[in-house]
Amino acid sequence: MAIYTVFGNPIAHSLSPQIHQAFAQQSGVELNYTRSLTSQARFRRAVAEFFRHGGAGANVTVPFKQQAFELVTYVTARAQQAGAVNTLVPLGYGQLLGDNTDGIGLVRDLQRNLGQTLAHRDVVILGAGGAARGIIAPLLEQEPSSLIIANRTEEKAQILVEQFANSKLQACRFYELAIPTGAIVINATSASLAGEKLPVAPTELAHATCAYDMVYGAQPTVFMQQAQQAGVSVMNDGLGMLVEQAGAAFQMWHEGAELDTQKVIQEIRERLV
Ligand code: ATR
Repeated sequence: MAIYTVFGNPIAHSLSPQIHQAFAQQSGVELNYTRSLTSQARFRRAVAEFFRHGGAGANVTVPFKQQAFELVTYVTARAQQAGAVNTLVPLGYGQLLGDNTDGIGLVRDLQRNLGQTLAHRDVVILGAGGAARGIIAPLLEQEPSSLIIANRTEEKAQILVEQFANSKLQACRFYELAIPTGAIVINATSASLAGEKLPVAPTELAHATCAYDMVYGAQPTVFMQQAQQAGVSVMNDGLGMLVEQAGAAFQMWHEGAELDTQKVIQEIRERLV
């Protein structure tokens, strides 16, 4: 049976095995998808051993996505833009292709599952770390009117703006943030993970019509609660993005697989505790 895994640390609570088993069932494929706990020091060797023993594909999650980017033989254009890899495809002879499906996962969740339009829309990203970097190019591809990156440390947002060099990009600090009316605001900071509130004024948040948190949980995240209190009409956490990025990875390994991701999102949501 084909063996897949996800490398991360921590990894015990990863939902990837359940999601990939659900896709396998939908597409009539038999596979075994495991979780692999590793460390920065052992990551490279763990990946090499997994594929030497016949691994058919792997995902990579926090905190190894940049390290994965550095170790692969080839990268897809979207992984190159993200500077990070979340999907490994063995090419034989010890060679690996690195892809990044996080951005397409977010775009698909916003468009297909939440019915949000990105073209000619103002989009705001909160945060300028690795999670933010991975979604900039896929969002720009959808031709938004503007893409504003707001961050606690302005220099980091500024660096992203310079690297992506697109006239639609702007950087600012949280307290300078002016959210355009009807915007989508995406929380790509790690503040929700720590249960911390974001320093975005409720009067600004109130201008948005969609608030999306890349983090997910059984309960609405702190950012979703902030958005609700500000009166934002559509709020969502990142569970759909997680399932959609997994779907795109599954399709890298099983070309042509047709997946009902909405069904899987619903199933996983029901089991979240
Ligand atoms: P990730 O890979 O999850 O993006 P990261 O690269 O460490 O992690 O980036 C974390 C992001 O969350 C950064 O944008 C960080 O802001 P700084 O660049 O100013 O450090 C942001 N962040 C984390 N905790 C935050 C908080 N409590 N309030 C605001 N921003 C926060």
